Amino acid sequence: MSDRAFEGIEGDLNASPHRAEWTRRNIGPQTRQWLEEDARYFLHQALSTPCLNALARSDGIYLEDLEGRRYLDFHGNSVHQVGFGNPAVIAAIKAQLDALSFCTRRYTNIPAVELAKTLARITPGDLAKSLFCPSGAAAVGMALRLARVVTGRHKTLSMWDSFHGASLDASSVGGERMFRGDVGPLLPGTEHVPPPDASRCALGCGGRCDLRCAGYVEYVLEREGDVAAVVAEPVRSTPAIPHPDYWPRIRAACDRTGALLIFDEIPQCLGRTGRMFVSEHWGVTPDILVLGKGLGGGILPMAAIVTRPELDVMADRALGHYTHEKNPVTCAAALATIHYIEKEGLVGRARELGALALARMTEMAERHRLIGDVRGLGLLLGIELVRDRNTRERASEEADRVMYRALERGLSFKVSAGNVLTLTPPLTISRAELARALAIVDECLTEIEAG
Ligand SMILES: Cc1ncc(COP(=O)(O)O)c(C=O)c1O
Repeated sequence: MSDRAFEGIEGDLNASPHRAEWTRRNIGPQTRQWLEEDARYFLHQALSTPCLNALARSDGIYLEDLEGRRYLDFHGNSVHQVGFGNPAVIAAIKAQLDALSFCTRRYTNIPAVELAKTLARITPGDLAKSLFCPSGAAAVGMALRLARVVTGRHKTLSMWDSFHGASLDASSVGGERMFRGDVGPLLPGTEHVPPPDASRCALGCGGRCDLRCAGYVEYVLEREGDVAAVVAEPVRSTPAIPHPDYWPRIRAACDRTGALLIFDEIPQCLGRTGRMFVSEHWGVTPDILVLGKGLGGGILPMAAIVTRPELDVMADRALGHYTHEKNPVTCAAALATIHYIEKEGLVGRARELGALALARMTEMAERHRLIGDVRGLGLLLGIELVRDRNTRERASEEADRVMYRALERGLSFKVSAGNVLTLTPPLTISRAELARALAIVDECLTEIEAG
Protein backbone atom coordinates (compact mmCIF):
# COMPACT_ATOMS: atom_id res chain seq x y z
CA MET A 1 0.00 0.00 0.00
CA SER A 2 1.15 3.53 -0.66
CA ASP A 3 2.28 5.94 2.05
CA ARG A 4 -0.67 8.18 1.33
CA ALA A 5 -3.02 5.37 2.29
CA PHE A 6 -1.67 5.76 5.77
CA GLU A 7 -2.03 9.43 6.16
CA GLY A 8 -3.59 9.96 9.54
CA ILE A 9 -2.12 9.68 12.97
CA GLU A 10 -3.72 6.37 13.66
CA GLY A 11 -4.37 4.66 10.36
CA ASP A 12 -7.93 3.55 9.80
CA LEU A 13 -8.69 1.35 12.77
CA ASN A 14 -12.10 0.48 11.39
CA ALA A 15 -10.61 -0.95 8.18
CA SER A 16 -8.22 -3.32 9.97
CA PRO A 17 -8.34 -6.89 8.67
CA HIS A 18 -7.53 -8.15 12.18
CA ARG A 19 -10.27 -6.29 13.90
CA ALA A 20 -13.06 -8.73 13.02
CA GLU A 21 -11.02 -11.65 14.30
CA TRP A 22 -10.20 -9.81 17.54
CA THR A 23 -13.87 -8.94 17.99
CA ARG A 24 -14.97 -12.53 17.41
CA ARG A 25 -12.57 -13.80 20.05
CA ASN A 26 -13.03 -11.09 22.65
CA ILE A 27 -16.42 -9.43 22.49
CA GLY A 28 -19.21 -11.11 24.45
CA PRO A 29 -22.99 -10.57 24.05
CA GLN A 30 -23.26 -7.80 26.68
CA THR A 31 -20.49 -5.69 25.14
CA ARG A 32 -21.77 -6.41 21.65
CA GLN A 33 -25.13 -4.94 22.58
CA TRP A 34 -23.55 -1.67 23.77
CA LEU A 35 -21.35 -1.46 20.70
CA GLU A 36 -24.39 -1.89 18.48
CA GLU A 37 -26.28 0.82 20.34
CA ASP A 38 -23.24 3.09 20.12
CA ALA A 39 -23.15 2.56 16.36
CA ARG A 40 -26.91 3.20 16.12
CA TYR A 41 -26.96 6.49 18.02
CA PHE A 42 -23.61 8.13 17.18
CA LEU A 43 -22.62 9.64 13.87
CA HIS A 44 -20.02 7.38 12.30
CA GLN A 45 -16.56 8.65 11.48
CA ALA A 46 -13.14 7.20 10.74
CA LEU A 47 -10.94 6.27 13.71
CA SER A 48 -13.84 6.63 16.11
CA THR A 49 -17.30 5.09 15.58
CA PRO A 50 -18.07 2.14 15.30
CA CYS A 51 -16.00 1.36 18.38
CA LEU A 52 -13.73 -1.55 19.12
CA ASN A 53 -14.74 -2.22 22.71
CA ALA A 54 -16.56 -0.61 25.65
CA LEU A 55 -14.92 0.53 28.86
CA ALA A 56 -16.25 0.34 32.38
CA ARG A 57 -13.38 1.73 34.47
CA SER A 58 -9.97 3.33 34.40
CA ASP A 59 -7.43 3.87 37.13
CA GLY A 60 -3.78 4.85 37.04
CA ILE A 61 -2.27 3.25 33.97
CA TYR A 62 -5.13 0.78 33.43
CA LEU A 63 -8.34 0.61 31.44
CA GLU A 64 -10.93 -2.01 32.26
CA ASP A 65 -13.55 -3.17 29.76
CA LEU A 66 -17.15 -4.22 30.45
CA GLU A 67 -16.03 -7.83 30.70
CA GLY A 68 -13.49 -7.05 33.40
CA ARG A 69 -10.34 -7.34 31.25
CA ARG A 70 -7.62 -4.85 32.13
CA TYR A 71 -5.28 -3.12 29.69
CA LEU A 72 -2.09 -1.18 30.28
CA ASP A 73 -2.97 2.00 28.40
CA PHE A 74 -0.04 3.19 26.27
CA HIS A 75 -2.38 5.28 24.10
CA GLY A 76 -4.61 7.36 26.37
CA ASN A 77 -5.21 9.95 23.63
CA SER A 78 -2.19 11.68 25.19
CA VAL A 79 -4.26 12.95 28.13
CA HIS A 80 -2.95 10.69 30.88
CA GLN A 81 0.39 12.13 32.00
CA VAL A 82 -0.74 11.80 35.66
CA GLY A 83 -2.63 8.54 35.11
CA PHE A 84 -6.39 8.04 34.94
CA GLY A 85 -8.51 9.12 37.87
CA ASN A 86 -5.55 10.71 39.62
CA PRO A 87 -6.73 11.14 43.25
CA ALA A 88 -5.18 14.61 43.63
CA VAL A 89 -6.94 15.83 40.48
CA ILE A 90 -10.25 14.27 41.48
CA ALA A 91 -10.04 15.81 44.96
CA ALA A 92 -9.37 19.26 43.46
CA ILE A 93 -12.31 18.88 41.07
CA LYS A 94 -14.67 17.75 43.85
CA ALA A 95 -13.67 20.60 46.14
CA GLN A 96 -14.09 23.13 43.33
CA LEU A 97 -17.52 21.74 42.39
CA ASP A 98 -18.73 22.41 45.91
CA ALA A 99 -17.40 25.97 45.98
CA LEU A 100 -17.83 27.53 42.51
CA SER A 101 -18.77 25.32 39.58
CA PHE A 102 -18.94 27.93 36.80
CA CYS A 103 -17.73 31.46 36.20
CA THR A 104 -20.03 33.80 34.30
CA ARG A 105 -18.30 36.12 31.81
CA ARG A 106 -17.11 39.45 33.23
CA TYR A 107 -16.07 37.71 36.48
CA THR A 108 -12.85 36.02 37.35
CA ASN A 109 -12.06 33.36 39.96
CA ILE A 110 -9.08 32.22 41.98
CA PRO A 111 -8.32 28.89 40.21
CA ALA A 112 -8.32 30.64 36.81
CA VAL A 113 -5.92 33.35 37.98
CA GLU A 114 -3.72 30.80 39.78
CA LEU A 115 -3.55 28.69 36.65
CA ALA A 116 -2.57 31.61 34.40
CA LYS A 117 0.08 32.59 36.98
CA THR A 118 1.38 29.02 37.13
CA LEU A 119 1.61 28.79 33.34
CA ALA A 120 3.57 32.05 33.31
CA ARG A 121 5.96 30.49 35.85
CA ILE A 122 6.52 27.14 34.14
CA THR A 123 6.46 28.01 30.43
CA PRO A 124 9.78 28.89 28.79
CA GLY A 125 11.27 32.35 28.20
CA ASP A 126 9.04 35.37 28.40
CA LEU A 127 5.73 33.57 27.80
CA ALA A 128 3.48 35.07 30.43
CA LYS A 129 -0.09 35.71 29.28
CA SER A 130 -2.72 33.02 28.73
CA LEU A 131 -6.15 32.45 27.28
CA PHE A 132 -8.10 29.25 28.01
CA CYS A 133 -10.66 27.29 26.00
CA PRO A 134 -12.14 23.79 26.02
CA SER A 135 -10.30 22.09 23.11
CA GLY A 136 -6.99 21.92 21.36
CA ALA A 137 -8.55 22.79 18.01
CA ALA A 138 -10.10 25.92 19.52
CA ALA A 139 -6.73 26.90 21.03
CA VAL A 140 -5.03 26.48 17.64
CA GLY A 141 -7.77 28.71 16.18
CA MET A 142 -7.04 31.39 18.81
CA ALA A 143 -3.32 31.22 18.04
CA LEU A 144 -4.00 31.67 14.30
CA ARG A 145 -6.33 34.59 14.93
CA LEU A 146 -3.80 36.27 17.22
CA ALA A 147 -0.98 35.78 14.72
CA ARG A 148 -3.07 37.46 11.99
CA VAL A 149 -3.82 40.50 14.15
CA VAL A 150 -0.27 40.84 15.54
CA THR A 151 1.42 40.63 12.12
CA GLY A 152 -1.28 42.10 9.88
CA ARG A 153 -0.67 39.07 7.62
CA HIS A 154 -2.71 35.93 7.04
CA LYS A 155 -0.42 33.29 5.53
CA THR A 156 0.82 30.32 7.51
CA LEU A 157 3.50 27.70 6.96
CA SER A 158 2.86 24.32 8.49
CA MET A 159 3.87 20.70 7.96
CA TRP A 160 2.47 18.05 5.70
CA ASP A 161 1.22 15.07 7.75
CA SER A 162 0.70 17.19 10.85
CA PHE A 163 -2.49 17.29 12.88
CA HIS A 164 -3.70 20.39 14.72
CA GLY A 165 -7.35 19.59 15.34
CA ALA A 166 -10.53 18.80 13.45
CA SER A 167 -12.11 22.26 13.06
CA LEU A 168 -11.89 23.89 9.64
CA ASP A 169 -9.21 26.42 10.63
CA ALA A 170 -7.08 23.80 12.41
CA SER A 171 -7.57 21.36 9.49
CA SER A 172 -6.35 24.07 7.12
CA VAL A 173 -2.96 24.20 8.82
CA GLY A 174 -3.01 20.44 9.42
CA GLY A 175 -1.45 18.27 6.77
CA GLU A 176 -3.53 15.10 6.75
CA ARG A 177 -5.84 14.23 3.90
CA MET A 178 -8.34 12.66 6.30
CA PHE A 179 -9.08 16.10 7.74
CA ARG A 180 -8.49 18.26 4.65
CA GLY A 181 -10.30 16.33 1.95
CA ASP A 182 -13.94 16.60 0.80
CA VAL A 183 -14.80 19.69 2.83
CA GLY A 184 -14.47 22.38 0.20
CA PRO A 185 -12.13 25.37 0.41
CA LEU A 186 -9.98 25.62 3.50
CA LEU A 187 -8.40 28.82 4.86
CA PRO A 188 -6.49 30.72 2.16
CA GLY A 189 -2.73 31.13 2.42
CA THR A 190 -2.09 27.96 4.37
CA GLU A 191 1.16 26.77 2.79
CA HIS A 192 2.70 23.42 3.71
CA VAL A 193 6.28 22.16 3.81
CA PRO A 194 7.78 18.69 4.40
CA PRO A 195 8.17 17.82 8.10
CA PRO A 196 11.64 17.38 9.62
CA ASP A 197 11.53 13.58 9.56
CA ALA A 198 14.87 12.13 8.55
CA SER A 199 13.53 8.57 8.57
CA ARG A 200 11.25 9.42 5.62
CA CYS A 201 12.64 12.70 4.33
CA ALA A 202 10.56 14.04 1.45
CA LEU A 203 13.62 16.02 0.35
CA GLY A 204 15.77 12.92 0.11
CA CYS A 205 18.33 13.26 2.89
CA GLY A 206 18.34 9.48 3.11
CA GLY A 207 18.06 9.12 6.87
CA ARG A 208 20.96 11.42 7.78
CA CYS A 209 19.43 14.85 8.26
CA ASP A 210 21.57 17.58 6.72
CA LEU A 211 18.94 20.22 7.48
CA ARG A 212 17.75 20.60 3.92
CA CYS A 213 14.26 20.57 5.50
CA ALA A 214 15.20 23.71 7.48
CA GLY A 215 16.68 25.28 4.34
CA TYR A 216 13.40 24.67 2.54
CA VAL A 217 11.39 26.45 5.25
CA GLU A 218 13.86 29.37 5.19
CA TYR A 219 13.53 29.58 1.41
CA VAL A 220 9.71 29.64 1.50
CA LEU A 221 9.60 32.15 4.35
CA GLU A 222 11.94 34.46 2.49
CA ARG A 223 10.31 34.07 -0.94
CA GLU A 224 6.78 34.56 0.42
CA GLY A 225 8.00 37.41 2.59
CA ASP A 226 4.64 37.92 4.29
CA VAL A 227 3.98 34.79 6.32
CA ALA A 228 2.16 35.46 9.61
CA ALA A 229 3.26 32.29 11.39
CA VAL A 230 5.01 28.97 11.22
CA VAL A 231 2.73 26.47 12.97
CA ALA A 232 4.10 23.10 14.02
CA GLU A 233 4.33 20.37 16.61
CA PRO A 234 7.95 20.64 17.78
CA VAL A 235 8.05 16.85 17.81
CA ARG A 236 5.52 14.77 15.94
CA SER A 237 3.71 12.04 17.78
CA THR A 238 5.03 9.25 15.56
CA PRO A 239 7.60 10.28 17.06
CA ALA A 240 9.71 12.15 14.53
CA ILE A 241 12.48 13.95 16.37
CA PRO A 242 14.07 16.81 14.44
CA HIS A 243 17.80 17.52 14.11
CA PRO A 244 18.96 19.61 17.13
CA ASP A 245 19.63 22.63 14.89
CA TYR A 246 16.26 22.50 13.13
CA TRP A 247 14.16 24.63 15.51
CA PRO A 248 16.92 27.17 16.29
CA ARG A 249 17.21 27.75 12.52
CA ILE A 250 13.46 28.10 12.04
CA ARG A 251 13.26 30.43 15.03
CA ALA A 252 15.94 32.65 13.47
CA ALA A 253 14.21 32.56 10.06
CA CYS A 254 10.90 33.60 11.68
CA ASP A 255 12.65 36.51 13.36
CA ARG A 256 14.30 37.58 10.08
CA THR A 257 11.05 37.49 8.11
CA GLY A 258 8.64 38.80 10.76
CA ALA A 259 6.71 35.53 11.14
CA LEU A 260 5.57 34.28 14.52
CA LEU A 261 6.46 30.79 15.68
CA ILE A 262 3.49 28.82 17.05
CA PHE A 263 4.28 25.54 18.79
CA ASP A 264 1.41 23.09 19.13
CA GLU A 265 2.41 21.06 22.19
CA ILE A 266 -1.12 19.84 22.83
CA PRO A 267 -0.27 16.11 23.07
CA GLN A 268 3.32 16.36 24.32
CA CYS A 269 3.29 19.16 26.89
CA LEU A 270 3.62 18.73 30.65
CA GLY A 271 6.52 16.34 30.88
CA ARG A 272 5.89 13.56 28.39
CA THR A 273 9.16 14.13 26.51
CA GLY A 274 11.30 14.49 29.64
CA ARG A 275 10.99 18.27 29.72
CA MET A 276 7.99 20.19 30.97
CA PHE A 277 7.65 21.61 27.43
CA VAL A 278 9.06 20.10 24.26
CA SER A 279 10.57 23.39 23.07
CA GLU A 280 12.98 23.28 26.03
CA HIS A 281 14.90 20.46 24.31
CA TRP A 282 16.28 23.00 21.84
CA GLY A 283 16.20 26.18 23.93
CA VAL A 284 13.74 27.70 21.48
CA THR A 285 10.86 29.79 22.78
CA PRO A 286 7.84 30.09 20.49
CA ASP A 287 5.82 33.30 20.30
CA ILE A 288 2.66 31.34 21.05
CA LEU A 289 2.63 28.03 22.88
CA VAL A 290 -0.51 25.90 22.53
CA LEU A 291 -1.37 23.43 25.30
CA GLY A 292 -4.20 20.96 25.76
CA LYS A 293 -5.10 17.32 26.33
CA GLY A 294 -3.36 16.34 29.61
CA LEU A 295 -3.77 19.91 30.88
CA GLY A 296 -7.21 18.83 32.12
CA GLY A 297 -5.65 16.02 34.14
CA GLY A 298 -7.03 13.35 31.82
CA ILE A 299 -10.50 14.13 33.13
CA LEU A 300 -11.76 17.46 31.83
CA PRO A 301 -11.41 19.18 28.45
CA MET A 302 -8.97 22.04 28.81
CA ALA A 303 -6.62 23.89 26.46
CA ALA A 304 -4.71 27.16 26.45
CA ILE A 305 -2.47 29.50 24.54
CA VAL A 306 0.39 31.22 26.33
CA THR A 307 2.17 34.14 24.73
CA ARG A 308 4.44 37.14 25.34
CA PRO A 309 2.95 40.24 27.00
CA GLU A 310 3.73 42.33 23.88
CA LEU A 311 1.29 40.17 21.92
CA ASP A 312 -1.60 41.19 24.17
CA VAL A 313 -2.98 43.45 21.43
CA MET A 314 -6.64 42.46 21.05
CA ALA A 315 -8.16 44.20 24.04
CA ASP A 316 -10.91 45.72 21.89
CA ARG A 317 -11.59 42.59 19.79
CA ALA A 318 -12.55 38.97 20.41
CA LEU A 319 -9.76 36.45 20.42
CA GLY A 320 -11.40 33.36 21.86
CA HIS A 321 -14.78 33.96 23.39
CA TYR A 322 -15.40 30.49 24.76
CA THR A 323 -18.22 29.94 27.25
CA HIS A 324 -15.99 27.88 29.52
CA GLU A 325 -13.00 30.22 29.18
CA LYS A 326 -12.40 30.67 32.91
CA ASN A 327 -14.23 27.59 34.12
CA PRO A 328 -13.06 27.20 37.75
CA VAL A 329 -13.45 23.41 37.70
CA THR A 330 -11.31 22.81 34.61
CA CYS A 331 -8.78 25.34 35.93
CA ALA A 332 -8.67 23.56 39.31
CA ALA A 333 -8.06 20.27 37.47
CA ALA A 334 -5.21 21.81 35.46
CA LEU A 335 -3.62 23.35 38.55
CA ALA A 336 -3.79 20.06 40.45
CA THR A 337 -2.28 18.28 37.44
CA ILE A 338 0.68 20.65 37.21
CA HIS A 339 1.25 20.53 40.97
CA TYR A 340 1.17 16.73 40.90
CA ILE A 341 3.69 16.59 38.03
CA GLU A 342 6.02 18.93 39.94
CA LYS A 343 5.58 17.27 43.35
CA GLU A 344 6.13 13.76 42.01
CA GLY A 345 9.02 14.74 39.74
CA LEU A 346 7.27 13.23 36.72
CA VAL A 347 9.33 15.18 34.20
CA GLY A 348 12.61 13.65 35.40
CA ARG A 349 10.88 10.32 35.69
CA ALA A 350 9.80 10.47 32.03
CA ARG A 351 13.42 11.17 31.08
CA GLU A 352 14.77 8.31 33.18
CA LEU A 353 12.16 5.69 32.22
CA GLY A 354 12.27 6.82 28.60
CA ALA A 355 16.03 6.15 28.47
CA LEU A 356 15.47 2.67 29.93
CA ALA A 357 12.71 1.93 27.45
CA LEU A 358 14.78 3.14 24.50
CA ALA A 359 17.69 0.92 25.55
CA ARG A 360 15.33 -2.07 25.73
CA MET A 361 13.81 -1.20 22.35
CA THR A 362 17.28 -0.88 20.81
CA GLU A 363 18.12 -4.34 22.11
CA MET A 364 14.84 -5.64 20.62
CA ALA A 365 15.77 -4.09 17.26
CA GLU A 366 18.89 -6.28 17.16
CA ARG A 367 16.74 -9.42 17.41
CA HIS A 368 13.66 -8.55 15.39
CA ARG A 369 14.00 -8.27 11.63
CA LEU A 370 10.67 -6.39 11.49
CA ILE A 371 12.02 -3.45 13.49
CA GLY A 372 13.37 -0.80 11.14
CA ASP A 373 13.90 1.94 13.69
CA VAL A 374 13.32 2.79 17.33
CA ARG A 375 12.87 6.36 18.52
CA GLY A 376 12.10 8.10 21.74
CA LEU A 377 12.07 11.37 23.60
CA GLY A 378 11.19 10.75 27.23
CA LEU A 379 8.09 8.59 27.35
CA LEU A 380 7.12 9.35 23.76
CA LEU A 381 8.31 6.14 22.15
CA GLY A 382 8.04 4.59 18.70
CA ILE A 383 8.95 1.25 17.15
CA GLU A 384 8.81 1.43 13.37
CA LEU A 385 8.10 -1.85 11.59
CA VAL A 386 9.40 -2.41 8.06
CA ARG A 387 9.43 -5.38 5.69
CA ASP A 388 12.90 -4.51 4.46
CA ARG A 389 15.42 -2.34 6.26
CA ASN A 390 16.88 -1.06 2.99
CA THR A 391 13.70 -0.16 1.14
CA ARG A 392 11.93 0.69 4.42
CA GLU A 393 8.69 -0.69 3.01
CA ARG A 394 6.13 -0.20 5.77
CA ALA A 395 5.12 -3.38 7.60
CA SER A 396 1.63 -2.05 8.15
CA GLU A 397 -0.26 -5.30 8.16
CA GLU A 398 2.26 -6.71 10.64
CA ALA A 399 1.96 -3.62 12.85
CA ASP A 400 -1.79 -4.09 12.89
CA ARG A 401 -1.38 -7.72 13.92
CA VAL A 402 1.06 -6.77 16.70
CA MET A 403 -1.47 -4.26 17.99
CA TYR A 404 -4.30 -6.81 18.19
CA ARG A 405 -2.08 -9.52 19.68
CA ALA A 406 -0.88 -7.02 22.30
CA LEU A 407 -4.49 -6.15 23.13
CA GLU A 408 -5.14 -9.84 23.81
CA ARG A 409 -2.25 -9.77 26.24
CA GLY A 410 -3.53 -6.65 27.99
CA LEU A 411 -1.57 -3.85 26.34
CA SER A 412 -3.25 -1.03 24.40
CA PHE A 413 -1.35 1.34 22.11
CA LYS A 414 -1.85 2.96 18.75
CA VAL A 415 -0.20 2.41 15.41
CA SER A 416 0.82 5.72 13.84
CA ALA A 417 1.59 6.42 10.17
CA GLY A 418 0.48 2.86 9.41
CA ASN A 419 3.57 1.10 10.77
CA VAL A 420 4.87 2.78 13.94
CA LEU A 421 3.94 1.18 17.27
CA THR A 422 3.53 4.37 19.27
CA LEU A 423 3.93 3.92 23.00
CA THR A 424 2.87 6.73 25.33
CA PRO A 425 2.31 5.42 28.86
CA PRO A 426 1.29 7.58 31.80
CA LEU A 427 4.35 9.21 33.39
CA THR A 428 3.34 7.53 36.66
CA ILE A 429 4.13 4.06 35.31
CA SER A 430 6.45 1.84 37.37
CA ARG A 431 9.61 0.30 35.95
CA ALA A 432 8.07 -3.16 36.30
CA GLU A 433 4.94 -2.17 34.36
CA LEU A 434 7.02 -0.57 31.63
CA ALA A 435 9.15 -3.70 31.39
CA ARG A 436 6.01 -5.86 31.22
CA ALA A 437 4.57 -3.79 28.38
CA LEU A 438 7.78 -3.98 26.36
CA ALA A 439 7.96 -7.72 27.00
CA ILE A 440 4.45 -8.03 25.52
CA VAL A 441 5.54 -6.15 22.39
CA ASP A 442 8.63 -8.38 22.21
CA GLU A 443 6.54 -11.57 22.44
CA CYS A 444 4.05 -10.37 19.83
CA LEU A 445 6.86 -9.54 17.40
CA THR A 446 8.41 -12.99 17.95
CA GLU A 447 5.06 -14.65 17.21
CA ILE A 448 4.40 -12.62 14.09
CA GLU A 449 7.93 -13.07 12.72
CA ALA A 450 7.50 -16.82 13.22
CA GLY A 451 4.51 -16.58 10.83
C1 LIG B 1 -0.94 17.98 17.85
C2 LIG B 1 -2.40 18.15 18.13
N1 LIG B 1 -2.95 19.37 17.98
C3 LIG B 1 -4.26 19.57 18.20
C4 LIG B 1 -5.09 18.54 18.58
C5 LIG B 1 -6.56 18.81 18.77
O1 LIG B 1 -6.94 18.75 20.11
P1 LIG B 1 -8.49 18.57 20.50
O2 LIG B 1 -8.87 17.18 20.13
O3 LIG B 1 -8.55 18.84 21.98
O4 LIG B 1 -9.25 19.58 19.70
C6 LIG B 1 -4.56 17.27 18.74
C7 LIG B 1 -5.43 16.13 19.13
O5 LIG B 1 -5.15 14.98 18.91
C8 LIG B 1 -3.18 17.06 18.51
O6 LIG B 1 -2.63 15.85 18.65
